[in-house]
Amino acid sequence: MTMTDRDARSAPELARTAVAGDSGREALPAGAVRVLRDRLKANDPVWLGYHVLDRAAAKVSQFFDGRARARERARDLPGVNTREYNRLLWTAYDWSHDGEEWTPSVEWRESVVAEVLAPLLPSDAHALEIGPGAGRWTRELLPRVRSLSLADISERAIELCQERFGRGENLSYLVTDGNTLPGIADGSIDFVWSFDVFLHIAPVDQKGYLRELARVMRPGAVAVVHHPGDGGSAEGWRSAMTAELFAELVTESGMRVHRQFARWGEGNRFSLPNPGDVITVFGPSR
Ligand SMILES: C[S@@+](CC[C@H](N)C(=O)[O-])C[C@H]1O[C@@H](n2cnc3c(N)ncnc32)[C@H](O)[C@@H]1O
Repeated sequence: MTMTDRDARSAPELARTAVAGDSGREALPAGAVRVLRDRLKANDPVWLGYHVLDRAAAKVSQFFDGRARARERARDLPGVNTREYNRLLWTAYDWSHDGEEWTPSVEWRESVVAEVLAPLLPSDAHALEIGPGAGRWTRELLPRVRSLSLADISERAIELCQERFGRGENLSYLVTDGNTLPGIADGSIDFVWSFDVFLHIAPVDQKGYLRELARVMRPGAVAVVHHPGDGGSAEGWRSAMTAELFAELVTESGMRVHRQFARWGEGNRFSLPNPGDVITVFGPSR
């Protein structure tokens, strides 16, 4: 394609428009006519037809996704992250890599343990892990605590942990309904850990767990929970939680947020694998 003088003069504007709002799957950006003219010149009319329909469909999809999310918020609906969906998903999941497929590197994993988990873990703690999966973090927690309760919505995950960690006196297992912690006594827990779990739990069920944590945590206890901070992703794969809503729910449950962060280590060189996620550290107000 040869550029005319007129095209050349408008090129910076074209580039700005294209880059500002047009990253592949997005709806058509502002200044669409100019962008479309360029695309027609470079392709052909049939291609352009498909392209315009694709972008229009993206816009319609964004609109309805937004409406669905708003209704979830207004009516405390779980959206696609239902408890039954999680139970089925994680029961059918191929656990042959023990969840280590979500570990970006050995160095990252060590930093989570040394710089996030260990400094927050009280000594001699009665700990609770929500959603241990195949025990990726359980194996780090177990040698560092006095006792550990593992609660997961998937019976398969609990079986895997039982096979891996056995049935020692200091270990107990619980298949949960996805938002309560039956059998965990009031005021019995010093430390709560949950990583890569609340990403999949609907805000309404996170609210349930927070009420339960307020019940089971003793004064001075610490909870470390990794969750979406940005309202999750379109199509709902990540739950619609935000950092602000999570903090509000902690407070509503009668607890206090100590801090929220997404990076750690010297010069903040480590971060959560999904951009937009957050770790909230919180505990009882007293
Ligand atoms: C992505 S895996 C992460 C497992 C483990 N925490 C890890 O980091 O390797 C998600 C885990 O959360 C569990 N889970 C999902 N929804 C849950 C819920 N509502 N309550 C408890 N566990 C849940 C799943 O069964 C699965 O074991």
